[in-house]
Amino acid sequence: MKRINIAIDGPAGAGKSTIARQVAEQLGFIYVDTGAMYRAVTWRVLQQGISPTDEAGVTEAARSMDLELRPGKDGQQVFVNGEDVTGHIRTPEINANVSDVAKVREVRELLVKMQQDMTRAKGVVMDGRDIGTHVIPDAEVKVFLTASPRVRAERRFLELKASQPDLTIDQLEQDIARRDQIDAEREFSPLVKAPDAVLVDSTSMTIPEVVDRILELCRVQAPGGQ
Ligand code: CDP
Ligand code: CDP
Repeated sequence: MKRINIAIDGPAGAGKSTIARQVAEQLGFIYVDTGAMYRAVTWRVLQQGISPTDEAGVTEAARSMDLELRPGKDGQQVFVNGEDVTGHIRTPEINANVSDVAKVREVRELLVKMQQDMTRAKGVVMDGRDIGTHVIPDAEVKVFLTASPRVRAERRFLELKASQPDLTIDQLEQDIARRDQIDAEREFSPLVKAPDAVLVDSTSMTIPEVVDRILELCRVQAPGGQ
């Protein structure tokens, strides 16, 4: 298939990374999880004992760190100053603080620039919150992927219950709702559907059905065929 850029945005737990990774695999494109970048900055901020609401401190932490994404055999790996932090960025503590870090304008500018550099050669599937609106406004395919809050919390629960047995679906739903609210209400590039994005509600769709729907959009949007 012709090299195009595909932007997948949506709220927490909608299935963005699962779907984006599979679409990228099927097309032979590169998958970029931008949430992992905001999570890595949050990891660094907490590690340095900086408060996530201290904008100057957060900005300094983001500016002074070396952030690198590398494709690994189990998906994208994230390195901070040469250290592999992939296994440390999906903890409840990072979940609770990442949206405050992601509100900071300088952090967004820094990460958006890195993300845009990755898309210049095309052939990228990128997921996040502001990819279709801000990072790749000229992406050939834009999807806003969503699902009901309860279903998103239930899916996360199934994923996490073995490693975090104390978690409840209600807790997860609250965590997701809190992050969605901060992400949607923030001043700089909030979570919002781009006017030209296709809304895909996966509440009652399986993963292969969502992947097929997006591959179909790619075929329509980028004639040249697979
Ligand atoms: O996987 P999940 O949907 O729970 O979150 P994520 O995609 O890893 O993103 C974590 C957080 O990073 C989000 O809640 C946003 O606060 C922030 N984020 C953002 O602001 N912009 C992006 N392009 C990606 C993530
Ligand atoms: O990246 P994001 O936070 O949007 O979601 P994810 O981590 O890709 O997906 C959350 C969970 O929902 C994963 O366990 C997926 O396997 C699952 N999922 C699903 O069961 N059905 C879908 N149609 C999409 C995702």
